[in-house]
Order: sequence, then structure tokens, then C-alpha cells
Amino acid sequence: MGPRSRGPRTSGASRPCPCACAERVGHEAPAADTCAIIVAGGSGERFGDPRGKQFVELCGLPMLSWSVMAFDRAPSVARIVIVCAPERAAKVEKDVLSPLTLAKPLALAPSGATRQESVRSGLSALPRDLEFVAVHDAARPLVETEMIERAVATVREDGTLAGAILAARSIDTLKLVEGDMIVATPDRSFYWAAQTPQVFRSAKLVAAHRAAAREEYEGTDDASLVERLGGRVRVVECSRDNIKVTVPEDLAIAEATLERRLLT
Ligand code: CTP
Ligand code: MG
Repeated sequence: MGPRSRGPRTSGASRPCPCACAERVGHEAPAADTCAIIVAGGSGERFGDPRGKQFVELCGLPMLSWSVMAFDRAPSVARIVIVCAPERAAKVEKDVLSPLTLAKPLALAPSGATRQESVRSGLSALPRDLEFVAVHDAARPLVETEMIERAVATVREDGTLAGAILAARSIDTLKLVEGDMIVATPDRSFYWAAQTPQVFRSAKLVAAHRAAAREEYEGTDDASLVERLGGRVRVVECSRDNIKVTVPEDLAIAEATLERRLLT
């Protein structure tokens, strides 16, 4: 899949906040120093729709469109890379992107056999001059621009951090189970459910993916790859609304949340 560009290039310089969010009006806008990588290359087996869950309609638009809009509005984001199956690139163009008016340059990258390989492919389209990278699952369409900004700011403001991820405190009592026997009931207050976006210093995430590929390590998220190299990663508390649509029932929950937001 060849590189693809659309929209004007944004400079790295500060500029007025295009989303006019109340918190930032009158303040200097953050630098546009982040590349967003949205992974949309999965087959959605558990969801079970032959179109792929990322293309299923959510409040009138394909699921993937909602994440693209949230990142496009984020002042920190300079560029967006969508990772998708090459045979679905035309569908992304037509169904996901053409209904949107985007301000940021956007490129497509080919997906891999696993999520980790898809992120790696997205990283190969990373511009050298962007200090941060935000990796996001297309299956989390409810991500909000404000939370993207909060995660990027957390890494930007603390030079000792390799990354910061959105996460929600565990509300369930967790059991460590072997077979069907409970082995332990750990203290729930130490457990958080990882979400996306997960934001990193670009060099740290590239190094972590290289090491994982070399050592044939497969993690369930990007933070785990950075953690195993000793990188410090902070959690940024996010609402549980930022769900990952995995099974068909999740779509109704996502739709109800989005409708509520669109009405308020
Ligand atoms: N993903 C990807 N490339 C893959 C596998 C997954 O880009 N080879 C993306 C999915 O499109 C999704 C995100 O990674 O946005 C999280 O994955 P998941 O929710 O597991 O989606 P799927 O892999 O599509 O679903 P399933 O595991 O049920 O097949
Ligand atoms: Mg999967």
C-alpha cells in the first residue's frame, strides 16, 4: 500500500486551539508533536460481522470514523496513520474518510497478522520529527479528544516517563484462578484495566517493538513492550465509557453513550 497524504501540513509551532475547549481558551496551545496510529487491521472474529467491526455503523458513521475525528481535533496531533488490511484501503477511503473534513495529514499503512505487527507497520510510517506517538484501537470509538490531550501532556511534562496510557480502575473483585480453583484474591486497588490511546516517546516505542520482534515476545498492549525494557509508564485515569467494542452487545452500549454525548 503506497503512502497517502491528505489535508494541510501542520507546523510544530503553537497555534490557537481549534477545538476551542473552555480549559484552553486564552492559554498557549500545546505543540503539535504527536503522530496518532489507529490500528484497524483486525478481522473482528468475536464481533462476527463479515464487514469487520471497525466498519460497522455507529450513530451514522463507520466505527473507525469516530476515532479519526477525535484525533484530528486534538491540538497535539500533527499526523494520523491508519493501519488497515490492504484490501480494505479503498473502503477506508470511501466509507470512513470521504464523509469527514479533516485538518490533519493522514496516511494508510498495511496491517499485519497480529495487533502488535500492525502497530509495528504503523511505526514504519512514523515521521522522524514527531517526538510522541499515540497508539489507538479503532475498536475504541468513544475516545475523547480531551483524554488524548491529557495522555500526551502527561508524557510531555515528565521527562522521566517513557509513556502514559488511559486506564480505568478495576471495579470487579479479581480472582487468580488455576483450572477452576481460586488461588488468590488480590487487592483490587492495585489493578487497572488498560485502554487506548497509549502514548509514548516515539524512540522508546520503536525500540520496544524492535526488541519484542527480535525476542519473539508478543504482548497484549504496547505499554507491556515498553515496560519490559524498563520504561516508566504512567496511567491516566479515564472513564469506563472508553470501551473496546469486542462483541455485538458492546455496539449498543457504545451507541447509547455516543447518543447521550451528541445530545448534551
Ligand atoms: N488489530 C489490527 N491488526 C490485527 C489485529 C487487530 O490492527 N492483526 C486492531 C483491531 O482492528 C482493533 C485493535 O487492534 O482496532 C484491537 O483488537 P481487537 O479488539 O482484538 O480486534 P480484532 O482483532 O479485530 O477482533 P478479534 O480479536 O475478535 O478478532
Ligand atoms: Mg484481536
